Amino acid sequence: MSTKGAGTAQARTTVLTFAEKRKRREPISMLTAYDYPTARAVDAAGIDAILVGDSLAMVVLGHPNTLAVTMEEMLHHARAVSRGAKRALLIGDMPFMSYQADSGEAVRNAGRFLQEAGMDAVKLEGGQHYADTIRAIVRAGIPVQGHIGLTPQSVHMLGGFRVQGRTAAAARGLLEDALALEEAGCFSIVLESVPDRLGQYVTERVGIPTIGIGAGPATSGQVLVVHDLLGLYDTFSPKFAKRYAELGAAIASAVEAFRADVERGVFPGHEHGYAMAEDEWQEFLAAERARAARPLRMVKKRS
Ligand code: KIV
Repeated sequence: MSTKGAGTAQARTTVLTFAEKRKRREPISMLTAYDYPTARAVDAAGIDAILVGDSLAMVVLGHPNTLAVTMEEMLHHARAVSRGAKRALLIGDMPFMSYQADSGEAVRNAGRFLQEAGMDAVKLEGGQHYADTIRAIVRAGIPVQGHIGLTPQSVHMLGGFRVQGRTAAAARGLLEDALALEEAGCFSIVLESVPDRLGQYVTERVGIPTIGIGAGPATSGQVLVVHDLLGLYDTFSPKFAKRYAELGAAIASAVEAFRADVERGVFPGHEHGYAMAEDEWQEFLAAERARAARPLRMVKKRS
């Protein structure tokens, strides 16, 4: 269950905050997080929304794409995030095959993110074909964030992780998808890997916030995968992934320093040890000496 109770010091971000920020033209910040310490850090930094993204399949679990991650795995990570975040809006990413087959199953799985993992909203990939599914989830009282453009769960249909909406026809399709998601009741839409000018055009045409990832500077907000931002994932690095730190390199050198200290016998140092009172130690040694001096007892064999 969520630890985000009433009475926390800072105002909680809600879907209304998203709408208000868009109205005031204040950029919305969103980052992924998949565990308790990262959620705490992201929350404390004042990020508006935390997405427990299915990207965790790649950046945390080591899969080549996002298809393998299950509902149970997503819920496991979402629970850890909700224990760490007190203020940000928490969005659970619906994994592959948790909403595609039918609307009833989609509603039940979306509900699990709120009921079992303390999320405030869910995100799902897809355009106009998912409008009815989104309507059903929203009808159940669950806020939905759409996701169009490059939708990684369709990587095999798209022929790889490729920029979308580059032709006039594809741009038109993307706009129609965005309008359909708004009409279905989404509170915002993630636009992934589309040309900057299309990101701006869609943002101006819809009445809900757009959150871009590789969609240019004109969207209502920006999202990044936190492992990309921190330099913790270099198996695949999209052009839009700006690195703000090199934690992968920092981890490697810290681990290397530990190994060297162990091999040279300089770790642990005196300051890392625990003391024992001299009289207790002497009593222990005396008891040991007495025990060693006692003759060995014959052990009777069982018949
Ligand atoms: O899973 C994820 O991290 C995402 C973001 C890229 C928006 O969907």
